[in-house]
Amino acid sequence: MDTVSTGSNSSPAAADQDFGARKARHLEICIDESRYRVETGATGFEQVQLVHSALPELGMQQIDPSVSFLGQRIPMPILISSMTGGSSEGFRANKDLARAAQRIGIPVGMGSIRVLFRHPEVFDHFHLKKLAPDVPVMANIGGVQVRDLDHTQLLEMLKRLEVQALVIHLNPGQELFQPEGDRDFRGVIDAIRALRERSPLPLIVKETGFGIRPSTIATLFDAGVEWVNVAGAGGTNWVKVESYRLDDIERQTAEEFDDWGLSTALILAAAPQFRGRLIASGGVRSGIDLTKAVALGAGMVGLALPFIRAVKQGGVEGVASFAERLKRVLSSAMLLCGARTIADLQRTRTLWTPAFRSTVEQLRELESQPEVQR
Ligand SMILES: Cc1cc2nc3c(=O)[nH]c(=O)nc-3n(C[C@H](O)[C@H](O)[C@H](O)COP(=O)(O)O)c2cc1C
Repeated sequence: MDTVSTGSNSSPAAADQDFGARKARHLEICIDESRYRVETGATGFEQVQLVHSALPELGMQQIDPSVSFLGQRIPMPILISSMTGGSSEGFRANKDLARAAQRIGIPVGMGSIRVLFRHPEVFDHFHLKKLAPDVPVMANIGGVQVRDLDHTQLLEMLKRLEVQALVIHLNPGQELFQPEGDRDFRGVIDAIRALRERSPLPLIVKETGFGIRPSTIATLFDAGVEWVNVAGAGGTNWVKVESYRLDDIERQTAEEFDDWGLSTALILAAAPQFRGRLIASGGVRSGIDLTKAVALGAGMVGLALPFIRAVKQGGVEGVASFAERLKRVLSSAMLLCGARTIADLQRTRTLWTPAFRSTVEQLRELESQPEVQR
């Protein structure tokens, strides 16, 4: 997700010069709905139905959507997914997102901190802890950087940022369509294992919108990471975002990936063994999507695009009122499913369309075969 790169197509100096411009361009493409379409495919939530209970025998005052995350009690299982930083527009958005997170009481992520190792002067863009002292704040870095950076320096930076976790993003799809992007993704899992051994902070590994297959989720948990964020398909498609920065021919190549990836609901449904340990994200747009994600076993749910758009339109207030709406829908849907707590909701059975059930079964079977284990 980083726009400063050691990719072989451009010199580091040139990349440094315009990293802020590229970050700003990403933000513009994501926010300007009238000119750019960045969401593709489907999340799979439309193939999942919650089962209404006409006799729930619960009172609204009993409904408790709070959860524990990174050692803190938070009012609902929602986090602001990793975004922005590194440009002045991103800095403004980051500040508002952090202030909103503090107001609502939910965790907040930030965009990749890689740039800090070349441009320490933008430290303030990422020092969100001072704006959100009472909620978990999560730093972010690419898997390739975990492989290439000095771990002592990385851990020192995390300490200075006063964060509660490091989020490591895996985004080979985006990198392949970023002119300056990385092309070599070998050695990442060994690097994550090595960092896990040294890091005093929890590690969260995420995709950025194409999903993580269940066998890879197992590999990541075996490596000791605390949470895996499935970041599945159906929401922001980062090849699509990059395509708007490409020439016509390259753009057509990128467009073949409009439907790429494993959808968010599909991954959750195919990986019931990780119930409660996954963060669901990728295309979560409503309180009902959120409720379905938890009913499919998610322990937490992340949203990116809706929050950045809410901040752009309404600042801190816009984010807070959107989060309040999500909470109200979640609490109401919990009552209507007969679930008092998030743990109850995670045990709620859902209805699946035949097509969804069949794809889930195929994925489970495929992933249980040793030769495809990653
Ligand atoms: C403006 C913007 C910037 C992002 N920057 C990062 C980033 O630096 N690191 C990262 O891991 N993910 C980044 N993401 C990806 C999101 O965290 C998320 O995985 C993805 O957008 C899918 O979620 P969504 O469908 O809710 O947007 C960014 C997303 C947006 C919209």
